[in-house]
Amino acid sequence: MKKVRVKYLEFMWPLRHFLITCGDKAQPNIIAVSFCMPLSKKDPFVACAIGKKMYSYELIEKTKEFIINVPPASLKPKVYYCGYHSGREVDKFRETGLTPKPGHKVSAPFIEECVAHMECKVKQEIDVGEKTLFIAEIIDAYADEDIAENKRELKYSLGKFPRKNA
Ligand SMILES: Cc1cc2nc3c(=O)[nH]c(=O)nc-3n(C[C@H](O)[C@H](O)[C@H](O)COP(=O)(O)O)c2cc1C
Repeated sequence: MKKVRVKYLEFMWPLRHFLITCGDKAQPNIIAVSFCMPLSKKDPFVACAIGKKMYSYELIEKTKEFIINVPPASLKPKVYYCGYHSGREVDKFRETGLTPKPGHKVSAPFIEECVAHMECKVKQEIDVGEKTLFIAEIIDAYADEDIAENKRELKYSLGKFPRKNA
């Protein structure tokens, strides 16, 4: 019988790390997120949990838009920088040297050095304690050519949805 009570999160790793960009050209920001997942293979919805005290939360509340950027493994130190510093105190684009490029359909910029981007519009918000769960629709998604054409593999991802009999 399984009797030992455990901290549940330890059993749900590994989680992917993403960089969410939010705000607009005048006031852009980057936040590292792990509590972020697709909700269906068919319908383009994602769920991302963002702390209510975060500067990014404030910006997303204002615009109801954000971009999920997929960092390659080489950006790990910059992902951690964005996860340990607040945009209230520092300009994370300037400090990391990451390049903001105008989003195609949302006000937030995307990060040039990331390999794929999902532009999202918030559809619903759910209170989950210290965080708000943003349910968002992906209205545009694009990637570097060599990733999109499967010529280069993301080190930490098979990049494919698992098959039934795989
Ligand atoms: C790897 C990693 C994953 C993180 N995942 C989340 C997350 O899913 N949601 C969240 O609210 N904060 C997450 N954080 C913490 C925020 O990135 C961090 O508090 C950040 O400084 C907030 O920045 P902001 O105030 O500019 O929005 C994560 C941090 C790291 C390092």
